[in-house]
Amino acid sequence: MPTRLNHEGGSIAPAALAQLQRRADRLLRICGHPGAELSLLLVDDRRMEELNSHYRGKRQPTNVLAFALWDAAETPRRSGGRWPGNKIGTKTNWGHGAKLNAQRHSLPGDALLGDVVISLDTAQREADLGGVSREQRLSWLLIHGLLHLLGFDHERSPSEEAAMVEAERQLQLRLNQDERRDTMIKLAVNVDHVATLRQARGGSEPDPVLAASICELAGAAGIVVHLREDRRHIQDRDLRLLRQTVKSKLNLEMAIVPEIIDFALDLKPDMVTLVPEKRQELTTEGGLDVQGHKKKLAKVIAKMNQAGIPVSLFVDPDTNQIKTAAAIGATFIEIHTGPYCDANNEAEQYREFHLLAAAAEEALAAGLRVNAGHGLNYLNSSRVAALGTIEELSIGHAIITRAIMVGLKKAVREMLTVIRRNE
Ligand code: PXP
Repeated sequence: MPTRLNHEGGSIAPAALAQLQRRADRLLRICGHPGAELSLLLVDDRRMEELNSHYRGKRQPTNVLAFALWDAAETPRRSGGRWPGNKIGTKTNWGHGAKLNAQRHSLPGDALLGDVVISLDTAQREADLGGVSREQRLSWLLIHGLLHLLGFDHERSPSEEAAMVEAERQLQLRLNQDERRDTMIKLAVNVDHVATLRQARGGSEPDPVLAASICELAGAAGIVVHLREDRRHIQDRDLRLLRQTVKSKLNLEMAIVPEIIDFALDLKPDMVTLVPEKRQELTTEGGLDVQGHKKKLAKVIAKMNQAGIPVSLFVDPDTNQIKTAAAIGATFIEIHTGPYCDANNEAEQYREFHLLAAAAEEALAAGLRVNAGHGLNYLNSSRVAALGTIEELSIGHAIITRAIMVGLKKAVREMLTVIRRNE
């Protein structure tokens, strides 16, 4: 892992800690050093004062210290000792105004860059003073420390200060752009309903495989299908073809029954979503009882992971289910949005919305990736999408039914053209 993060003092929520680690990894990538190793230590003011006093002779806390272990003038050094490297201000080879990416050529891919130490207490005070969030301040301090490790030093001369300020600005901009791109919510389209329509006549149309391609061309980031034990809509043939044609991501929804597990292991979809399945239900009715089926689910997850297939568990927004999902090795959860979508009044919808918002936060903090779905439509989806904690929405019924409504006029006109054509 490029960033080794240690939290020794000062308070910080698990989600903010995870975000800082992701930011540090992302910054290393942006700087062109994805394989370099960075140690990031978070402390309180008391510890920071000790360090500042010991290494810089200043008996007061500071916001950030950087200890470079790598010197561009020499070969990279590794040391088992504690901060034997250079503290802030160390001279390196990079010239004035060096461009971020220009350094790539001189830094070996797996170099140990050094340590950045940040005081959470000082970061909080500075955030309050500057009217920014602590996360924003932490991000700036991280960038500042990292640039020191990369050879920038604002204390050397006014022109170096200007170069460092510009590099900070550039890095922050790139970080924001990168995060915005990655956090843009994705849409996975469930095409089961196309197959339902086909099965109603027992013929070959409409074909969910063709529908999946159209969804992808329109921008869907994934295709979802549920292979039910009773094969009421999606057929084995659909999945075999989808495996060949889907270019984005094929997500197979399935119950944990041996026949379907074998099918999935053979097919190797890009991921599977495990759902409870009842024969009589019209659609999936509730989330999995992860706690109740912990052992069985853990076995299936292990099997899928061994085959390189990440697993998502479809769960209600419930703390115990989420904790258990993380404990048994799930990669994702898909939060069941049905109760929020089916709420009978505003108060109920508000309550359900806050439950799923809290569940998404909790899952992220537990290290899970978070999707959501069921019952989402053109009126209730934007609020869920705006949460910022959910990676992907899985939507089927609303999109397929709307496709009929927005496409019907065109379909009728096309038929009129056909029957009135003078051959
Ligand atoms: N997620 C899961 C786990 C589902 O079972 C379904 C329904 O097949 C969906 C999402 C999509 O729900 P809807 O068709 O209501 O959009």
